Amino acid sequence: MKILTIESSCDETAAAVVDDRRQVLGASLASQIDVHQRFGGVVPEIASRNHLEAILPVVSDALAQAETTLDDLDAIAVVNAPGLAGSLLIGLTAAKALCVAANKPLIAINHLQAHIYACRVAFDEDLFPCVGLIVSGGHSSLYRCAGPIDFEPLGTTIDDAAGEAFDKVASMLGLPYPGGPSIQKAAESGNPKAFPFPRPMLNDPERLQFSFSGLKTAVRYKLAGVGKVDFSTTQISEQERADVAASFQEAVVDCLVGKSVQALKKCGMKTLCVGGGVAANARFREKMEDAANKNRFKLYVAPPKLCTDNAVMGAVAIERFKAGLFEPLDLDIFPGLVRDAQ
Ligand code: KG4
Ligand code: ZN
Repeated sequence: MKILTIESSCDETAAAVVDDRRQVLGASLASQIDVHQRFGGVVPEIASRNHLEAILPVVSDALAQAETTLDDLDAIAVVNAPGLAGSLLIGLTAAKALCVAANKPLIAINHLQAHIYACRVAFDEDLFPCVGLIVSGGHSSLYRCAGPIDFEPLGTTIDDAAGEAFDKVASMLGLPYPGGPSIQKAAESGNPKAFPFPRPMLNDPERLQFSFSGLKTAVRYKLAGVGKVDFSTTQISEQERADVAASFQEAVVDCLVGKSVQALKKCGMKTLCVGGGVAANARFREKMEDAANKNRFKLYVAPPKLCTDNAVMGAVAIERFKAGLFEPLDLDIFPGLVRDAQ
């Protein structure tokens, strides 16, 4: 069985061909980082226009790598939730058109379930049931995952997502987009204990929530002075920049690790699977490993390339195929999705 998977929820246009044993037969990805870098973040309208140009070449490339034609496919799967509306629409419309042209069934992919499924693809082990942590540019959420397409929300961020905080703090520090990799690099020469940035709710195991907005403000006050917002005239040395980056990164990582451990305890579970771009962070991976050893849980974090958006993680569509979950051609997008995993 072969499925074409399509991902266009944010600023990566990606397609892959996977088989029912989760083998990746072809995978293609066009990143828009260069396009958005000068704006310091993703500009939705520009993203969708770029998806429009990239989508068919990326699909053709994935099929060519897999030495597969549209006719050979058993289904076409596409991310329709959550994500940027204009971006999701390009992928969904392309997938529908291909389904009509080749007379193939359509499968919907939930981007968040796909991020966790990246671990299933990478490790080829049965991970479920587990606690799932998704840490990306748009999400910081914990789920009780009974199965690959059966998620129940445990808690989420009450304001910014972790990746969003990385991107905004990088911009304050004059570091390039995307902020995660830039902050990680700057932090290498910084002291993570230089500034005691806040770790909200970390001492309250009953609240499985995140909050990164106050942390962002704490960095701003560090740069501009307490109570001031304008830091355009602030001069900071390379060492101070590295110290702020390291201290900020440490605070985010402590919250993500701490809340994940609390979620595992609350659910009585012993397996944690992590997905999303922030899971590519080296310090996050290091501290999560330490926490797994200390608290004796099994940890699965996909390799960095499968943490950031890609279409290989869309292999979760195999599970929907097996369950007979196909979609009509009037399937819509759900940009803000709270729909948990039917
Ligand atoms: O999962 P993803 O590719 O897209 C979304 O679904 O949002 O995540 C992108 C986010 C960005 O905010 C980016 O700054 C962050 O992941 N990111 C990182 C790292 N690599 C990417 N954050 C921290 N450290 C990294 N190494
Ligand atoms: Zn993502």
